[in-house]
Amino acid sequence: MSTNKVYGDAPNSIPLKELPSRWEYSDPAFQEGISEEFTIDHSKHSLFGASKAAADLMVQEYGRYFGMATCCLRGGCLTGPQHSGVELHGFLSYLVKCNIEGRDYKVYGYKGKQVRDNIHSEDVAAFMYQFYLNPQCAEVYNLGGGKENSCSILEAFELTRSITGVSQRYTYVEQNRIGDHICYYSDLRKMKSHYPTWSITKSLPQIIEEISHAWKKRLG
Ligand SMILES: NC(=O)c1ccc[n+]([C@@H]2O[C@H](COP(=O)([O-])OP(=O)(O)OC[C@H]3O[C@@H](n4cnc5c(N)ncnc54)[C@H](O)[C@@H]3O)[C@@H](O)[C@H]2O)c1
Repeated sequence: MSTNKVYGDAPNSIPLKELPSRWEYSDPAFQEGISEEFTIDHSKHSLFGASKAAADLMVQEYGRYFGMATCCLRGGCLTGPQHSGVELHGFLSYLVKCNIEGRDYKVYGYKGKQVRDNIHSEDVAAFMYQFYLNPQCAEVYNLGGGKENSCSILEAFELTRSITGVSQRYTYVEQNRIGDHICYYSDLRKMKSHYPTWSITKSLPQIIEEISHAWKKRLG
């Protein structure tokens, strides 16, 4: 399991346009999102991202050098009803939890319009299973929810409100997190072309609904 943090903050150099509730790529080359060809070099990663990039290259090397079946899955936001999101990890799970508990959510910079793609854990597992059935050598995939399952924080507030009926209280903090992606969603075309029977089966509203249901049960 690799991560989209291997791309460091380089995705922030893609020209963007500001829409009412989100940032969006304005360069047509990124209409479908970020592909596996995107540079992992010459950018700020965080130590976590750099350590993942090192492991990602090692895994690819075992594939290329020794001919082993290896795979790096560069995850976007992987989530689901069992996710235990906290403030710095698991954005959607944590956001829904804050909504259900009536807690304030802190938005760090970018006007709350920063975009992430979200994928249900069952769709993650389904892709792993497809790879297991038909393994490749030294492959790399950007595993996320893609454009369809992408949302900004503001859009996630609205989607959650439409499911729980509760408007999210939030505080805006001007300073963005260091190296945080402004807009990131995965280009799923390589995954789909290598494994045509695989596709996203859980939409974003379905994911939020499941997370919301699970938190209500867990929190009593
Ligand atoms: N969740 C995301 O949004 C996301 C995004 C990109 C990449 N990833 C990567 O996906 C992987 C899984 O992340 P997650 O969000 O599901 O995390 P998680 O914390 O939900 O799951 C991690 C699992 O690893 C197990 N584990 C931890 N240390 C272990 C050890 N020493 N031996 C065996 N098992 C151990 C834990 O028990 C847990 O079941 C991680 O490598 C993470 O970096 C996650």
